[in-house]
Amino acid sequence: MSENLFVHTGPKNEKYQTLLQQIPSLLDPHVDVVANMANIAAALKETFGFFWVGFYRVHGETLVLGPFQGPLACTKIPKGKGVCGAAWETSSTLVVNNVHEFPGHIACSEFSKSEIVVPVLRSGKVLAVLDIDSDEFATFDEIDQNYLEKICTCLSELYP
Ligand code: SME
Repeated sequence: MSENLFVHTGPKNEKYQTLLQQIPSLLDPHVDVVANMANIAAALKETFGFFWVGFYRVHGETLVLGPFQGPLACTKIPKGKGVCGAAWETSSTLVVNNVHEFPGHIACSEFSKSEIVVPVLRSGKVLAVLDIDSDEFATFDEIDQNYLEKICTCLSELYP
């Protein structure tokens, strides 16, 4: 696997395209998925400078904090709670332009203003969620959703 990341400096879709092309070489199928989550979080942080980017993994009826980049975060999120728990419950990506308007939003940081949560799905089952927070409103759109879902699909293929 590669330990070098090329970061595109152009528009968002080109940055994602460049990152997506590198994902297969960044992933290591011979190690635990947690190690791969760590490198994906790092690659997203390095490419976009997101305020917070990381994973929560499904453990029974709870999401448990996984690899992340950014400030400290809450360690457990019950199913259906917050943006992450809602994305898990609905098995769908959630884009939140203003987290203050999302019922039950869990504020791990007072600086978080918008958020996207993408489930990592395998055979229709949610195994984890990718959570990205921005310190600006309305950061995420269908471009983010499209590419982040593709990245999560690459990751899900590493699950046994
Ligand atoms: N805001 C999330 C909680 C996790 S942190 O943002 C890192 C939520 O509402 O689910």
